[in-house]
Amino acid sequence: MDLLKWTDDLSVGNPLIDEDHRNIFDLLERLHQDMSSGQINQETQSIVDALRDYAEAHFSREEEFMRKIAYPHYAVHKAEHDRFVSEVCALQSRVARGARTAQLDIDQFLAGWLREHVLVRDMALASAIRGEGGTAAA
Ligand SMILES: [Fe+2]
Repeated sequence: MDLLKWTDDLSVGNPLIDEDHRNIFDLLERLHQDMSSGQINQETQSIVDALRDYAEAHFSREEEFMRKIAYPHYAVHKAEHDRFVSEVCALQSRVARGARTAQLDIDQFLAGWLREHVLVRDMALASAIRGEGGTAAA
């Protein structure tokens, strides 16, 4: 399976959240293609910057949904968001320093992490937003 592609099984059934996830996967795929060249350049920087901005905006939207419905698993869910953002920030500063990253697989790591998060946390959240309880898998 290509970890970097958004796939139908990742649909949480909420069009807004799905659209955000698709865009994040697109950025990860662009990052992967860019980093495959082995060169850190201006383009790499702008993709990582966009990834951080987009991920933060998306996570804020999800967190707002959670607060709105007094979601009982807010803390654990938000902690995962924070972890993703801090990984992206670390990557952002490595790229800013022009580090020829030893972690060319970082994009795969982020995509794998995101996939797992979507399948477990976001699925549960989306079902809670739909009023289906949402406590089972959270
Ligand atoms: Fe989430």
